[in-house]
Amino acid sequence: MKVGVLGSGSMGAGIAQVAAAAGHEVRLYDNNPEALKRASNKLQKILNRLVEKGRMEDAEAKALFGRIYFVESIYSYSDCDLVIEAIIENLDIKKAVFEQVEEVVGPDCILASNTSSLSIASIAAACDDPSRVIGIHFFNPAPLMKLVEVIPAIQTSPAVLEKTIGLIDSWGKYTVQTKDTPGFIVNRVARPFYGEALRILEEGLADVATIDWAMTEIGGFRMGPFTLMDYIGNDINYTVTETVFRSFYYDPRYRPAFTQKRLSEAGYLGRKSGRGYYDYSEGATPPEPRKDQKLGEYIVWRIVTMLINEAADALFLRIASRDDIDGAMTKGVNYPKGLLKWADERGIADCVESMDRLQQEYLEDRYRCSPLLRKMARDGITFYEVKTESQQV
Ligand SMILES: NC(=O)c1ccc[n+]([C@@H]2O[C@H](COP(=O)([O-])OP(=O)(O)OC[C@H]3O[C@@H](n4cnc5c(N)ncnc54)[C@H](O)[C@@H]3O)[C@@H](O)[C@H]2O)c1
Repeated sequence: MKVGVLGSGSMGAGIAQVAAAAGHEVRLYDNNPEALKRASNKLQKILNRLVEKGRMEDAEAKALFGRIYFVESIYSYSDCDLVIEAIIENLDIKKAVFEQVEEVVGPDCILASNTSSLSIASIAAACDDPSRVIGIHFFNPAPLMKLVEVIPAIQTSPAVLEKTIGLIDSWGKYTVQTKDTPGFIVNRVARPFYGEALRILEEGLADVATIDWAMTEIGGFRMGPFTLMDYIGNDINYTVTETVFRSFYYDPRYRPAFTQKRLSEAGYLGRKSGRGYYDYSEGATPPEPRKDQKLGEYIVWRIVTMLINEAADALFLRIASRDDIDGAMTKGVNYPKGLLKWADERGIADCVESMDRLQQEYLEDRYRCSPLLRKMARDGITFYEVKTESQQV
């Protein structure tokens, strides 16, 4: 099987490595020859490091690299069975590129986009045969992150969906299927992890270090929200939040925070710029959290309540299945527990009461409880143990 990868930036280069590691011949193209050269050098370095660390045999690394062809034009895709696009996040440019690629490839070639925020339906509409277009959303860095969201557009054929899931599974990835809606699963369900932490900060209830301490030490998350935002980059995280907010017709639940906007504007982008919520310059002393157990528990309660509500609402609106929502958040972004499982453990009635408490306090639509949680609490059912058939949601 031959795989074409379009765009050799962070994602494209990583996806090319994954496909080559799975044994496919890969054609990697970028319209910027410098970017292609950079990708080649970077990949060589990564493979050398894997060999040095004993994680890969030298011969295997050479064979893997040998399977990636750094090509000068999209005409090299003519015999590809799958082309994955990972170019700039711009709908008009992506549409133009899909149109060109479709002219080059054979009739059975699957055309996929790695877009994080654009609708697959709109990209597919640029093709003569939109039924062959699908979203395959890898996470960064693609070779290390196990989760892949597969997104059929309304035009995508069931055969293309089935073939894509089978293929990505065979690459050793954990695939989940999601509806073609803003943020797919992860970038939608995870919004409160950042948004509610920012809200708690803006209200002056706790500082950055204390919120991070609470979420890691008490909540069991691998990284606190502010450490994670600094890691992702405040510019990128802000843009995703703003895009999701706009795409959901300005639903207040996803409203971005001025704090993050200002940080981004000031160039306090996080680790990559040496300063974000924290100061990463040499000799800087990290701020001490206020290790107040009661405050910490309140912070975790509030953020996790919002996360559970978001996950429940994603299930309510059939964005993905229960197992795919919980799997995406645990296997994809290392949450300590699936959010729907967490809801069961806390008790559905408790989740509803928590949301209602927040809404009564703030009288904001941001805190509205998912109708699914309310219905489940009323019917006395849980996500994982549906009592009787008549009680199924
Ligand atoms: N970076 C992430 O964390 C991440 C995660 C998941 C998905 N994505 C998505 O993946 C895509 C790529 O993101 P990235 O972070 O790798 O970007 P990037 O800027 O690192 O790389 C994009 C590459 O595409 C090339 N390019 C631009 N227009 C082109 C064209 N018309 N033809 C060929 N090549 C072209 C650029 O030269 C560049 O090398 C975007 O759609 C993004 O939303 C990014």
